Amino acid sequence: MSVGPGHRRQVHIETFGCQMNEYDTELVRALLVREGYVMTEDRESADVILMNTCAIRENAHTKVYTHLSDLKALKRSRSLVVGVLGCMAQNLKEELTKQEPLVDLLAGPDAYRQLPRLIRDVVHAQEQDEHSKALAVDLSEYETYDDIVPARIPGVNAWIAIMRGCDNFCSFCVVPYTRGRERSRDPQGILEEAARIAGEGFKQITLLGQNVNSYRSRDWDFARLLTAVADIPGIERVRFTSPHPKDFPSPLLEAVVSHPKICKHIHLPAQSGNDRILGMMNRTYSRREYLALVERIRSMNSRMVLTTDIIAGFCSETDEEFADTYRLLEEVRYHSAFIFVYSERTNTIAARKFPDDVPREVKSRRVTTLVELQRRISTERNREYLGETLPVLVEGDAKKSSLQAMGKSDGNVTVIWNKADLACRPGDLVACSIADASASTLYAGAVARPDLPAKNEHSCTNMVQS
Ligand code: 5AD
Ligand code: SF4
Repeated sequence: MSVGPGHRRQVHIETFGCQMNEYDTELVRALLVREGYVMTEDRESADVILMNTCAIRENAHTKVYTHLSDLKALKRSRSLVVGVLGCMAQNLKEELTKQEPLVDLLAGPDAYRQLPRLIRDVVHAQEQDEHSKALAVDLSEYETYDDIVPARIPGVNAWIAIMRGCDNFCSFCVVPYTRGRERSRDPQGILEEAARIAGEGFKQITLLGQNVNSYRSRDWDFARLLTAVADIPGIERVRFTSPHPKDFPSPLLEAVVSHPKICKHIHLPAQSGNDRILGMMNRTYSRREYLALVERIRSMNSRMVLTTDIIAGFCSETDEEFADTYRLLEEVRYHSAFIFVYSERTNTIAARKFPDDVPREVKSRRVTTLVELQRRISTERNREYLGETLPVLVEGDAKKSSLQAMGKSDGNVTVIWNKADLACRPGDLVACSIADASASTLYAGAVARPDLPAKNEHSCTNMVQS
């Protein structure tokens, strides 16, 4: 490789972790393409392999280490630049390049603009037969990449990061250290981006932020921004993730409940159902306050879909305290829940203050207990839709069979049906009559255009998953 701008060098990016990372990968693609690099899906032919990483739990790290060791043979066989981007790069810094000598460059979430330079530095060193490492891991209080148009892959769903970083410092969480201080983008840039997305044919926008509902820019709060995005013509659905239960003022709830384009789904991470544990986690609400919020939401719309995140086996959690979390799931009856084993992250408040003292077997048993409970509740919740007709946004082929199509209900539940029942394309809104339900999926017995009869002789062919 010669020094200089991209010169059509091939870059392969692998993305791990959350939707924010998917979005960041689109930013990185845009930054590299404008420097002359070409993106490739084929890592065997790539000149540069980048991994956009997550640090939130131990298994996220393990996945990246496994991928890195898979690259060893490739790296030995030819000249190749290997880079680690994102939260793991920010969290481990030089330690990562020491542990994994094949890593040539690191760029944290606020340093993506420096990537072209970092790649050039590594290429230059390789040409001189030197083995230097290129690092950019400074966090910024201002970087929002507002001027970069993400290189999106055309489809149904588009993401917009409206704010970055987090100031909440939940004691278990590494995000405030890997993504830095909370900062919101200017609303004008966000609305322009949303209008462009609508013009490009995307049907659903998900607003992203580590703490999305604490968005604030001048006199714009999250409720105002969400409504303004939902008002953009051409967009069928607007979602947002991930919010914090502390930031749900009435105008926000009213916007979610009343705007036809804002999905009736609120992700409400509880983390625990026990007050002592919530206090140690620094979540800033009690079980009673959390339940009052659930009650308030349900009193405004009894059919709102609620989902949550739970951590089992946090430092010093007793069986009785765990039972409070179990009872929280029973009481709220979420449609679904992500349930995680507590995993200590270096630098976090919990790692500094509290011993990670719940035995591994106890943690796993608690997770299994909650997963089983939630599976039963999710099945019961989903069976409530039997016999109903739901509007579903078509996403593509079902994962398990190309004879079936898949879409999402407004409440974000996966719906599957036989393509032979209706000719439809990704991005179509169809009406699905729900005939069966499992913990994770609704099955439609009949599908129709919202204003057409249930059967149509043409079948969906070859739909591509968005
Ligand atoms: N251990 C386990 N789960 C964690 N999460 C965040 N940090 C940790 C950790 N150290 C979970 C929380 C959060 C979700 C995105 O990841 O439940 O809401
Ligand atoms: Fe982490 Fe808490 Fe911020 Fe979410 S709100 S990113 S869990 S610190």
